[in-house]
Amino acid sequence: MIRAVYPGSFDPVTFGHLDVIGRSAKLADELIVGVLNNNAKMPLFSAGERVKMLVEATKGMQNVRVIPFEGLLVDFARKVDARMIIRGLRAITDFEYELQMAQTNHKMDGGLETVFLTTSLEYSYLSSTTVKEVAAFGGDITQFVPQFVAEKMREKFARIHLSDGNK
Ligand code: PNS
Repeated sequence: MIRAVYPGSFDPVTFGHLDVIGRSAKLADELIVGVLNNNAKMPLFSAGERVKMLVEATKGMQNVRVIPFEGLLVDFARKVDARMIIRGLRAITDFEYELQMAQTNHKMDGGLETVFLTTSLEYSYLSSTTVKEVAAFGGDITQFVPQFVAEKMREKFARIHLSDGNK
């Protein structure tokens, strides 16, 4: 039984993440999407909101579970009894950070392996950060994220702009 963890911030989930989730769910018997709950990263969406969006976006995938986590990824992987970490690699710019993380995690837990999936070409440019930037300025993000996520972002930024206007 192979249980893998695909960890990330998912702030918000994009079609790039969903591509990696769909493909890695075929490599493992069970895939756990681990949603980092770390307010120091100042996420746009709370961990609860990010989990909800991921649950909705993966509802057709039978062997995918979405669970929030705090603290070290190695501890979370141990807790859910997963020995494989999945990460997506978009471009060479991702590599240095990903290599560092994979090696650090392997040093901390030698039984934990990181498997990299290269992002599908059509999503290789895509990141949650750029999606947030486009949405913050009112741009159309429906080609980057599911429709319901685009709607949640529109509501979120409308609320932020409203409270900024009241200051
Ligand atoms: O989507 P992201 O922000 O690139 O995901 C980064 C994530 C969540 C995988 C990484 O920040 C993480 O694993 N954080 C948990 C803390 C931890 O274990 N740090 C040590 C790894 S070097």
